Amino acid sequence: MTEDFDVRLVENAKYYTPGAEYKRDSWIGDYQKAYDRFLADPVAFWNNVAQDLEWIRPWDSVREWNYPYAKWFVNAKLNITANCLDRHVKNNRRNKVALIWRGEGGAERVYTYQRLLSEVMRFANALKKLGVTKGDVVCIYMPMIPEQIIAMLACARIGAVHSVVFAGFGATALNMRIRDAEAKIVITSDISIRRGKAIPLITIVQEAIDNAPSVEHVIIHSRRREPPVVIHPDFELDFYEIMNNAERECPPEVMDAEDPLFILYTSGSTGTPKGVVHTCAGYMVGAYYTTKAVFDIKDEDIYWCTADPGWITGHSYIIYGPLAAGATIFLTEITADFPDPGIWWKLIEEQKINIFYTAPTAIRMFMKLGTQWPQKYDLSSLRIIGSVGEPLNPEAFEWYYKEIGKERCPIVDTWWQTETGMQMITTIIGERMRPGFAGKAIPGVVADVVDKTGTPVPAGTMGFLVIKEPWPAMFRTVYKNDERYRNYWYTIKDCYMAGDLAVKGNDGYIMVLGRSDDIIIVSGHNIGTAEVESALVSHHAVAESAVIGKPEPIKGNSIKAFVILKLGVKPSEKLTQDLISHVRKTLGPIAVPHEIEYVDKLPKTRSGKIMRRVLKAKEMGIDPGDVSTLDE
Ligand code: PRX
Repeated sequence: MTEDFDVRLVENAKYYTPGAEYKRDSWIGDYQKAYDRFLADPVAFWNNVAQDLEWIRPWDSVREWNYPYAKWFVNAKLNITANCLDRHVKNNRRNKVALIWRGEGGAERVYTYQRLLSEVMRFANALKKLGVTKGDVVCIYMPMIPEQIIAMLACARIGAVHSVVFAGFGATALNMRIRDAEAKIVITSDISIRRGKAIPLITIVQEAIDNAPSVEHVIIHSRRREPPVVIHPDFELDFYEIMNNAERECPPEVMDAEDPLFILYTSGSTGTPKGVVHTCAGYMVGAYYTTKAVFDIKDEDIYWCTADPGWITGHSYIIYGPLAAGATIFLTEITADFPDPGIWWKLIEEQKINIFYTAPTAIRMFMKLGTQWPQKYDLSSLRIIGSVGEPLNPEAFEWYYKEIGKERCPIVDTWWQTETGMQMITTIIGERMRPGFAGKAIPGVVADVVDKTGTPVPAGTMGFLVIKEPWPAMFRTVYKNDERYRNYWYTIKDCYMAGDLAVKGNDGYIMVLGRSDDIIIVSGHNIGTAEVESALVSHHAVAESAVIGKPEPIKGNSIKAFVILKLGVKPSEKLTQDLISHVRKTLGPIAVPHEIEYVDKLPKTRSGKIMRRVLKAKEMGIDPGDVSTLDE
């Protein structure tokens, strides 16, 4: 499917070079030198990085590579929370601020490393008291509040495997994730607060645990004082009540390097979501290393990543990476446009944020709303600004660079995935940046753009983005479905296939073009076409459906569904609204179709597979290409 790709940008190279002064004293130093050092001896390179961290027992070897399975820091013993918390407390930094949280309505909470450690230990003991032991799965379905982070770290403290589900998912999606992981405990809040409104979470959880026999307890963090949450005493417990009744000290559980740390579900192109499994040591080293190398966090910095801890970006770059690096993190549940679109810039001014990491969908929204909002605030504290989640198109790059970075801050457009665990491609600060291009492989990573035989494609030609060497934070399997793991490695010879299309410039810079499979990225959230289709088909009026992503200027993509109704059912506006609310209830607001078209037929291959590519081409008025497999 590789085809010639005419990227005018490849010829009209345009570069920006801010931040040359950062390079001199940055953690990673000169990009090329660091990359050469890595290539000369990858084992020594990672060995060296891992030395920064604290281990209960050192490794026998850095890596064991048995295609497509890797072990990293073989036989080492560790606990990631000892690195994220105790290490700083011991090293005279117990009073350093670990976390500043702002709620809607102005509430602020500040946690020093000592306070965070104390609360994590208490909550860890509370979990232990409930019978949670090493290897048990705990599902966390919470808003963006400190308790979400405390719950995650408490699991890691005792070796329980957390499976965080983004609180924008609906009951069916949550149920599926709880059941697949066989979670023993679900931790939630009564409500989440968004744009001034309380959104009930507990009712979604109560519905989701019906038919989820593994769940023994639900722990509820109560935010709303009135009306108080009614707790069902045998089964439901109050977050702070069990925490306050627990012992204070909780030594970190001794974990093997390859013990699982967490499961995180991500959309698959077919069937159910995939439980991506990450392990303790490699993930810790990868998240720590990239936090230092890409964000160059200094001791006095205040760092803000706007992601939800419930996504991989939050796991790696709100929690584990920055805390392992001893950073001060800013976290807020405040959305970008409420009470007005200046709120994030106001927060940057107030908190004097130095490093800001967000998503292209937010940048494009700000672009649309105009420069008057950021111009009202002093953004001079910013030093590095970042982007993640989907391609940062050149227009959005230019705007971000000018209006937010004031032509002074380097932009780190970071390409990576839930599966990679850590950032893989970016432009290291101080190097010249090229709008539209994420950049090059980070030292420690070998990336390329190849055709389906694995041969690198020439510059300017579209191909598949692949990784050619194992890396420490790579996922180890798909939970209970190792075949899906192997598929990533056996589709293209000797490569990890990321599922993205990309093009390389003559300068080696990589531009990521988007997904090559049936995943739609809407406002930075991965949605599987298959999940939306099966949600639609579970409605009594629907016989069949096909879902595509349609390019949309702000969200990146919008979801369009084609629906065949059951015999005798007539399309109507009411039915459309019904279907939309059915998907909202099943999968959550993030997966709701923006458009539904009723059709009599869907384009299929002779073997009966829906050809979404044909629907998409028709929708966009472009040539669908090879349709030789199309039935009729
Ligand atoms: O298509 C790529 C896109 O997001 C996918 C991974 O999504 P997820 O696992 O949810 O992780 C998102 C946060 C790491 C990739 O396959 N993507 C992510 N970052 C970029 C990107 N596409 C282009 N440029 C990026 N910087």
